[in-house]
Amino acid sequence: MSERQYPGLFMTVEGGEGAGKTTNIAYIKEWLTKHNIEFVHTREPGGTPLAERIRELLLAKSDEAIAEKAELLLVFAARAQHLDQVIVPALQAGKVVLCDRFTDATYAYQGAGRGLDKRHIATLESLVQESLRPDLTILLDLPVAAGMARVSQRGELDRFEQEALSFFERVRTAYLERAAVFEHQYAIVDASQGLDDVQADIGVILQNRLSAYAGE
Ligand code: TMP
Repeated sequence: MSERQYPGLFMTVEGGEGAGKTTNIAYIKEWLTKHNIEFVHTREPGGTPLAERIRELLLAKSDEAIAEKAELLLVFAARAQHLDQVIVPALQAGKVVLCDRFTDATYAYQGAGRGLDKRHIATLESLVQESLRPDLTILLDLPVAAGMARVSQRGELDRFEQEALSFFERVRTAYLERAAVFEHQYAIVDASQGLDDVQADIGVILQNRLSAYAGE
């Protein structure tokens, strides 16, 4: 922790479709509030007016197929704006940033899902983020079929949600591989458990990783 670039803490939540990010982010927000930790909750792609417009472009179904490299660059364009306007200022101010997805999603979706070269993603990551990386990533891991069953109950699918199961299998595998490589950053939660158990696990992770930060 002492090597951190900014006084704040950068936490991200990742997972495949239907892994329960929304519900569990609500739980994390409650936990932070209860522990008097000042935080900013945001999301990717998005988090600023411009980046939210890019999100709409990325998620909308359209007649013109988005080229894979265009998709990658749009994701990082949104990220550059989000970092500049929201994430870095909050970290500089000593806040916790709670971000729904970040660059790990780019490795999973554009890298493993679309098959783009990881080295190009790493180049853009360095350009846009310099040395900033999440301090903590909570990965909500769930078998793909279970996640997609939840998503299909929500109604109309967005441009990513309508990908094939094999796409989401690659996404899941990529997340798990990254979690194994970046052990210090990742905490994996088994999202196939009942909600109480999922949240109990998240509570333990937050206690372990944030209590020093909260000065408890
Ligand atoms: P959400 O459904 O979690 O709100 O995220 C929107 C979609 O954007 C989701 O299907 C994953 C995708 N995505 C990428 O493909 N690359 C990225 O870098 C990010 C942050 C999200």
